[in-house]
Amino acid sequence: MPLNPFTPGAGTRPSILIGREPQLALVSNLADLVEAGRPSNPVVFTGLRGVGKTTLLHEVGAELRRRGWLAGYYEVRRDVEPGAAVRSIVRDSADLARGKLRKALSAGGHSIDGMTLTLGPAGFGFTVQSAGARDEAADPYPELVRFLRVLGRDARQGGVGVALLVDELQVFRKRDVAVLVQALSALKDEPIVLIGAGLPYLASELSKANTYAERFRYELIDRLDQSDAAAAVVDPALTLGTTWDAAALERVLELADGYPYFLQLYASESWDAAAGAARIETEHVEAAIPAVRRQLDAGLYAARYDRLSEREREYVDTMVTVADATCPDMVGSPRVESGAVADELDKSLSQLGTTRDRIIRKGIIHSPAYGLLEFSVPGFADYVRRRTGRA
Ligand SMILES: Nc1ncnc2c1ncn2[C@@H]1O[C@H](COP(=O)(O)OP(=O)(O)OP(=O)(O)O)[C@@H](O)[C@H]1O
Ligand SMILES: [Mg+2]
Repeated sequence: MPLNPFTPGAGTRPSILIGREPQLALVSNLADLVEAGRPSNPVVFTGLRGVGKTTLLHEVGAELRRRGWLAGYYEVRRDVEPGAAVRSIVRDSADLARGKLRKALSAGGHSIDGMTLTLGPAGFGFTVQSAGARDEAADPYPELVRFLRVLGRDARQGGVGVALLVDELQVFRKRDVAVLVQALSALKDEPIVLIGAGLPYLASELSKANTYAERFRYELIDRLDQSDAAAAVVDPALTLGTTWDAAALERVLELADGYPYFLQLYASESWDAAAGAARIETEHVEAAIPAVRRQLDAGLYAARYDRLSEREREYVDTMVTVADATCPDMVGSPRVESGAVADELDKSLSQLGTTRDRIIRKGIIHSPAYGLLEFSVPGFADYVRRRTGRA
């Protein structure tokens, strides 16, 4: 029996990457500009949970490394400052660098935060040079810019660029975002590009940190349209000689609503239910539904809901109450007015501001437009209904 070709997961590379040609072309143009010595603006992919931002960043990284770039990935964690992120990117990707850039990197002279990049038997690594402990109060900015400038000079000599692929950008603390954006602004003419990813409210967050961020190129990573969604389900199976019954395919497309993660999950469970049959039928998809729901309820959804405090849960539950009263037909991701939530809770908007912001930071809701709120995780409202015994 052939192995299941579907890849539900976080950042799990799909066997066939569908529908991201425009974004890949954008990055390829950006790389052309940089290699020609022209300035370029950072690119930031934004989108809801599970649309494929991480997957796309990995693909972009692979593409740029094929061109000889130094391109490394970093997922931001709270309380990590940009210097540490950049150091990790360089250390992890330096081994893959080629040509003149690799030679320059091995020659040394790259240090950041009192650590020096060295080439050892196991590859590149950072070793602590100075014995002096890092001064916590020191401004991390000058060091970061100096480091990236040296790196940029090497890359330019090698005719390539350096790509910092930074995922979950919204997790940076405000002052860290400010340092990163300010550094990028100072490095505009260097062959250093930030290709970031994060939740939809990133654009406004970054612009608040520094006006240079208004010139970033924000690319919305959206759900796949019907034909791309169909290809994401049909093509991986077809390469293994398995086909989809038309009605079964239709059903998966309806259930997943274009979200890549859901497409992978429903297709994967249907594949397993078909147990090696040459054709996946509607009955297999129906058999997959409870399995998918169990996985979501125990994993993706529960993990997020459980992270909420008592007060935050009350807020989220009330959003669903308001959604049910105002837009009962919007099952996927209903939008509700924060004013209506406040009314329902009998509180003022400012009394609820902190709670709302905390839930936003936890990546569960975001504001798609002034005064509006939306769940960042598709299907989350339905989960809250189940969890609170309303469905
Ligand atoms: N273009 C695509 N075609 C088919 N499947 C995809 C595509 N992009 C992503 N996937 C699949 O969708 C799932 C989610 O992808 P990924 O983790 O990259 O999303 P994300 O936007 O980074 O989510 P999160 O916001 O939770 O980090 C994975 O299972 C991946 O294999
Ligand atoms: Mg991701």
